[in-house]
Amino acid sequence: MKNQSPQCLQLFDNPKDVAQCVQILQNGGLVALPTETVYGLGADATNPQAVRRVFEAKKRPTGHPLIIHVANIEDARKFSSDFNNVAEILGSTFWPGPLTLLVKRSNRVIDEITGGRETVALRVPSHTLFQKVLAHFSDVGSGAIAAPSANLYGSVSPTTSQHVSGDLGDRIDAILDGGPCGVGIESTIVDCSVTPPVVLRQGAITLENLNDVLAAIGVVVSDQVTGESRAPGMQISHYSPSAEVKLFENTSDLKNYEKTCIANGIQVATILGSSNREIYARELYALLRSADSLHPQEILVLLPPATDIGVAIRDRLFKAAAPR
Ligand code: TXA
Ligand code: MG
Repeated sequence: MKNQSPQCLQLFDNPKDVAQCVQILQNGGLVALPTETVYGLGADATNPQAVRRVFEAKKRPTGHPLIIHVANIEDARKFSSDFNNVAEILGSTFWPGPLTLLVKRSNRVIDEITGGRETVALRVPSHTLFQKVLAHFSDVGSGAIAAPSANLYGSVSPTTSQHVSGDLGDRIDAILDGGPCGVGIESTIVDCSVTPPVVLRQGAITLENLNDVLAAIGVVVSDQVTGESRAPGMQISHYSPSAEVKLFENTSDLKNYEKTCIANGIQVATILGSSNREIYARELYALLRSADSLHPQEILVLLPPATDIGVAIRDRLFKAAAPR
């Protein structure tokens, strides 16, 4: 049985709990926090010991850099020595929101965050509860929260506090419960430190959204999502449930395969996903987790069309289905 070890403190959306959450961060502790994308495992981004604990709790290799979350674009600029025009335009258009910008780091950024790289990933999340924590933490501390997704390394990202407690409940100090995440998949990451800028991870903010605003300065974002050295931790096999994942482009292929499995005694769980792609994204990780909890031999998933957020959903599903 899972969850028998002592569980961490559960905090909720009220001023006393927000203050307690900030106190834990201030003391170098770890708190899982809700963002609009997925739950993050937060630590004071300026405290090397606290940041090292994040890697230990997640069992994440230390070379994989973390995103720093701040309250607004003014605070983001402080962590970069070259917050260039592209970063200014994207940050002022899409923040607060599900976008992460890679820029040259300033000397405020500690090596533990970037794994020694010259760039840092910055994000201003829009979740109101995360914003309350940032506002309070800016008053009493650094106001900068390092937060990877609050799951064990390589597994499916958490979109509810229950997902977090199942994975990390006995390895962290507290979970701040903000209900289920609205977007449901991780932020879009754009490397603004290169010309032209490159999308390193697809998310709710699409290539088209980015290019629409950058057209004003004649910049076109490239979508080479490859390049292990540039984007560590985004290797092919990722976001993986335990069961094997098989993907289908249409319902009839999926149903035929399902029938053959059943006829041959192969246990399967099927995910069709909502025809509304925003809802599909919101529910994706919860669906993968609950399918996996049935311990099937295979999870069969219907892919959404590759338009708008469908591109990001497909990216996560290809990674979940990749050979391990
Ligand atoms: O939506 C999100 O972005 C969530 C929430 C919690 O904000 N966070 C998240 O963090 O997905 P994480 O650590 O699970 O994924 C961040 C990705 C990693 O693949 C990491 O390698 C990459 O961003 N990254 C961070 N800093 C980088 C840097 N300086 N250079 C290249 N890649 C970087
Ligand atoms: Mg992650």
